[in-house]
Amino acid sequence: MTYAIKNPHKIVPHLRRLARDTWFRLRTRDHVSYYRAVMRSDTARDPEGAVGSHNHRRWLALGRMQFDYLVEHGLKPECRMLEIGCGNLRAGHLFIGYLHTGNYYGIDISPDILMAAQETVVQHGLRDKLPHLTPVRDLRFEFLPDEHFDVVHAHSVFSHSPLHVIEECFAHVGRILRPGGWFDFTFDRTEGKEHQVLREDFYYRTETLLALAGRYGLTATFMDDWERLPHKQSKIRLTRSVLT
Ligand SMILES: C[S@@+](CC[C@H](N)C(=O)[O-])C[C@H]1O[C@@H](n2cnc3c(N)ncnc32)[C@H](O)[C@@H]1O
Repeated sequence: MTYAIKNPHKIVPHLRRLARDTWFRLRTRDHVSYYRAVMRSDTARDPEGAVGSHNHRRWLALGRMQFDYLVEHGLKPECRMLEIGCGNLRAGHLFIGYLHTGNYYGIDISPDILMAAQETVVQHGLRDKLPHLTPVRDLRFEFLPDEHFDVVHAHSVFSHSPLHVIEECFAHVGRILRPGGWFDFTFDRTEGKEHQVLREDFYYRTETLLALAGRYGLTATFMDDWERLPHKQSKIRLTRSVLT
């Protein structure tokens, strides 16, 4: 209520989103189908807006921030990389340009945003890099080989995911990571009570995600230096725990 009084201009857009999301929830059977419907609607309006950037300048800057950070934290051109929830390649177009041909795999639950991703490949002259862009229903990675990827990356995906989706990912990501590989993801962090808004935005405590990763044999590091960047989410890096 206090928030609404302080931000009256946000009331009408919020009510519109509430009505649309309620309609989608009634028509879909699970979270992934629901979020796919949200993405279809958002992508039809504006693919860059659908991944959270309200203008092209922000789209480019957010992609650059992800890319520069990952290069500063170990990404090399010879790495094989999987991007979960690649969207329309906001950062992916930079990863594709940097990595050796064929070394970038992008997966997403939304066929609509993957078609927008193909347009990004064309617009940025990246056809010869042969990126793999694949729609998925879940995060079990069943079609991907064991110990294949040096780097797995998910930016602004778990901020839209209930805990069981994150758990599914943690349960399976260790199998496709090479020894010494890592998985970086961002999340919306709360120091208070964990909560969600419209089943679109989810807020977690760091310790919840650290404990969940530990249950699946993954060692988690909170990336302190990411906090200095102008971005509202936090970042965690997971590696496969070494058995002694
Ligand atoms: C906010 S966008 C971010 C896209 C991209 N990572 C970026 O930074 O531009 C979130 C993306 O994750 C995808 N997504 C959401 N839940 C997913 C899931 N469980 N598995 C795969 N992709 C998912 C959405 O379809 C959307 O393209």
